[in-house]
Amino acid sequence: MTTNFSLAGRRALVTGAARGIGAGISKALADAGAAVMIGDVLADLGRDTALTLSAGGATVRFTPLDVTSDEAWAAAVAATIAELGGFDILINNAGIEITSLVTEVNADDLRRMCDVNIVGTMLGMKHALRAMRPGGAAGKGGSVLNISSVAATIAFPAIAGYSATKSAVDRATRIAAVESGKLGYGVRVNCLYPGLVPTDMGMKLAADIVAAGLSPSIEAAVGDVIGQTPLGRLGEVSDMADAAVFICSDAARFITGIGLPVDGGMGT
Ligand SMILES: NC(=O)c1ccc[n+]([C@@H]2O[C@H](COP(=O)([O-])OP(=O)(O)OC[C@H]3O[C@@H](n4cnc5c(N)ncnc54)[C@H](O)[C@@H]3O)[C@@H](O)[C@H]2O)c1
Repeated sequence: MTTNFSLAGRRALVTGAARGIGAGISKALADAGAAVMIGDVLADLGRDTALTLSAGGATVRFTPLDVTSDEAWAAAVAATIAELGGFDILINNAGIEITSLVTEVNADDLRRMCDVNIVGTMLGMKHALRAMRPGGAAGKGGSVLNISSVAATIAFPAIAGYSATKSAVDRATRIAAVESGKLGYGVRVNCLYPGLVPTDMGMKLAADIVAAGLSPSIEAAVGDVIGQTPLGRLGEVSDMADAAVFICSDAARFITGIGLPVDGGMGT
């Protein structure tokens, strides 16, 4: 029985990993010994990230993947199995956030967030469970980690649509975990609730909060979030990445169907 956080010999697909939290999780998985396939719509940046992360000798590849497409998922999973020799870990990280007050919501923006955040995550779970379950193309069980958000657990202004999609991810995670367990797939399914992390997405949200009239400046908006966070700082990509390694490792072998807050206590 393994009781550390090693991922030696595991093969992982990480979506939305050209940059931000996904790139950080890819690095941490590779550091823990996994071979990693980066899937993203940003092909040039995704290839660059894969090249950078593989410089130290790790196996990190890139495959084009638009998570809203069933066909693209089939191709990305096939590429992962073909190039990495199997498929044991899926990190459903790709996501978008389009800020809006409820009074200003735009139907197309809402549909786009539903498409990437909900449909994309659901298709990922579909293809991962099919591939990882007994008799599947990889067939050795595994771990699926969906990236939800602290926004699924609190009422943060100007992100009602986004928060709704992340609550949907949370609920779907739990149902997939129950199905996988009851049907003997050998795949654990969990989700993570990151707090605010100053990636491209996180800093745009801070600017949008100012534009929506909810805060006088980006500094004040960030300060409000820190004030709501018992540990007194923003999240870092490495905070999310280390939690992802733990959840995907054998140390978490009896953990499925949970939402793990990695938010410094913001959602408590
Ligand atoms: N940054 C935060 O504060 C924060 C907080 C909580 C949750 N999250 C979640 O963490 C995840 C990563 O966020 P981030 O901050 O790194 O964002 P980011 O915008 O920096 O990166 C998102 C990545 O997803 C990719 N992507 C977008 N649409 C895609 C699609 N259709 N198919 C494949 N890839 C696609 C982008 O190209 C990009 O590489 C998201 O699901 C986000 O909702 C972020």
